[in-house]
Amino acid sequence: MSILIKSFNKSPKYSIKWNNYFKVYEEILNKYKNKKIKFVEIGIGDGGSLFMWKSFFKNKIEIIGIDLNPEAKKLEKFGFKIAIGDQADPNFWKSFYKKYGKIDVLLDDGGHKNIQQITTLMESIDFIKPDGMIIIEDTHTSFMKKKGFKNPSKYSVVNFSNLIIENIHRQNPSINKKPNFISRKIESISFYDSMICFNFFKKEKKVYSKLIENNKKLRNYFTDYRHDGDFIRIKKKFEGKIGKIKKNTLAYSLVRKIFHRNFYLSLKEKLRIIKYKNLLKK
Ligand SMILES: C[S@@+](CC[C@H](N)C(=O)[O-])C[C@H]1O[C@@H](n2cnc3c(N)ncnc32)[C@H](O)[C@@H]1O
Repeated sequence: MSILIKSFNKSPKYSIKWNNYFKVYEEILNKYKNKKIKFVEIGIGDGGSLFMWKSFFKNKIEIIGIDLNPEAKKLEKFGFKIAIGDQADPNFWKSFYKKYGKIDVLLDDGGHKNIQQITTLMESIDFIKPDGMIIIEDTHTSFMKKKGFKNPSKYSVVNFSNLIIENIHRQNPSINKKPNFISRKIESISFYDSMICFNFFKKEKKVYSKLIENNKKLRNYFTDYRHDGDFIRIKKKFEGKIGKIKKNTLAYSLVRKIFHRNFYLSLKEKLRIIKYKNLLKK
């Protein structure tokens, strides 16, 4: 049985979680065990998960719980720090980080609504320490219409994460976009069933990614066939009718060039991608 499940079962207060979370948490949070970290959980409920984290991480951890419900303050007597406020309010986050400073892990198990999840994420990015993470639980709400979630929509946190994927790619100079505060801080995003984890760099990234080469002396300038698929296919058909086209002739290189310049998707290829996309919707 996983250690986290044991901590969950022996917590003295009630908690409810999807069973797939435990394996993921053990994988991604193990590195912080027995370290002096600041761990913040939004959404206290009855307090069950706060006890679970305390027993999982052992006693070096500083746990801060956040909830809009003032009743949650009662849990301070068990050694947790509790902040009362609305995760959807940017001003709450300003005063929170002013009081508590930078943190290592932020876990969002609060209201799970788009505005709550996205405000929490964006107001917290600057306050996560290197090698830290932001985890958002219950992201299946990005696809739920009922219970007031009104998704899928372009305002969901899953869709918002797609924009962050673009920001991460800005570390590559080939796409010619200026890295922003997200590109410099977030190294990767892990998507799981109902959970998204934003992983922060160990050291803030100040320079673009760069190409490196091995064995320079062995460089042999291979011909890149990236755009040659269509050319080769059509050539084969054509050659079946009129015989082999000689390589290194003007006609050969001209036709090849035409294919290289016209490497946009053909209608047939677009239809194939649409067919693949439809498989994802089933
Ligand atoms: C599912 S419960 C959390 C359960 C707890 N994490 C556990 O696993 O035992 C969700 C909590 O989020 C709190 N919450 C909902 N909306 C919030 C908001 N806008 N700001 C802060 N807390 C919020 C609720 O009051 C509730 O206590």
